[in-house]
Amino acid sequence: MVDTNDQWIMDRTGIRERHVLAKGLGVSDMCAEAAKKCLAARGIAADKIAEFGIELIIVGTVTPDMMFPATACLVQDKIGAKGAWGFDVSGGCSGFVFALQAGVKMVESGAHRKVLVCGADANTRMTDYTDRTTCVLFGDGGGAVLIEPCEEGEIGFIDFEHEVDGAGGVSLNLKGGGSLNPSSHETVDKKMHYIFQDGPAVYKFAVRKMAEATAKVLARNGVTGADLGCFIPHQANKRIITATADRLGMDPERVIINIEKYGNTSAGTIPLAMETAVEEGKLKKGDLVLLAAVGAGFTVGAALLRWEI
Ligand SMILES: CC(C)(COP(=O)(O)OP(=O)(O)OC[C@H]1O[C@@H](n2cnc3c(N)ncnc32)[C@H](O)[C@@H]1OP(=O)(O)O)[C@@H](O)C(=O)NCCC(=O)NCCS
Repeated sequence: MVDTNDQWIMDRTGIRERHVLAKGLGVSDMCAEAAKKCLAARGIAADKIAEFGIELIIVGTVTPDMMFPATACLVQDKIGAKGAWGFDVSGGCSGFVFALQAGVKMVESGAHRKVLVCGADANTRMTDYTDRTTCVLFGDGGGAVLIEPCEEGEIGFIDFEHEVDGAGGVSLNLKGGGSLNPSSHETVDKKMHYIFQDGPAVYKFAVRKMAEATAKVLARNGVTGADLGCFIPHQANKRIITATADRLGMDPERVIINIEKYGNTSAGTIPLAMETAVEEGKLKKGDLVLLAAVGAGFTVGAALLRWEI
């Protein structure tokens, strides 16, 4: 479709494979599927979800099924989470970690005891396959986690470090279809319904801010890269991940990288990488885990936790 080659894509990004959500499905379908898998791992069968009593569903996404209702409402219906409420979080590629903090604080405050947090995006729905600078990067995918109260000190969430820099919005955006540029023939003709990205500007910001945010959250908690069981970063570019891991002094074996298999799935990358870490046996109960992401906004997110399962 475009003038590119496998060598360039692998060398510059580390991506080999990307997945495309089947026609007729939306992000809510990926979230519902992931939620069912997550709950099954917790011992809750699909037909028992209603009685399990999920109280809140938060979905991090920038590719909702539609402008409204929120994807969280569609997921609630699809999994039969009777009695739950929910909302979406638009944080670009940091959407999952932003949603995670919202969910965690709901549990910590005592407001809720069972919160489902999903991160998913169908980026191929907004990718211009005549633009070689973006079409080789983005794929579709997502995941879900369940947050419940735990005993203090053993496992669970320790800290978050989040930031936005709205001036960066010009470097990565999708201009059409919102209240400023409602969909029209003109917005279609001008390709305003596709991802626009100034790759090098995003790259520079991502390398600097991933390092800054992760260093901050580690320092605040008296932890170094060497203390971490796992570093699970957003998967936008393998070079961004290794640059951050180097600055943290992380053993490459403990850095989770699956970008080769999925490409950049925005809010989906961290939950997908969590699954990869579990599959590869790189996470055990009580391990210190660092999550980090940078995305459209610009947004920056990092989380420090002790792994549960
Ligand atoms: C997009 C990205 C991979 C491009 O890599 P880069 O090393 O910065 O490359 P550049 O954009 O400087 O382009 C270098 C050259 O490769 C070319 N190029 C771009 N895409 C190409 C492709 N798919 N195949 C072949 N050549 C390509 C460019 O046209 C340019 O050619 P030129 O030097 O003749 O102008 C990189 O900038 C990146 O990963 N940015 C961050 C993306 C990101 O994280 N986005 C999501 C945030 S959540």
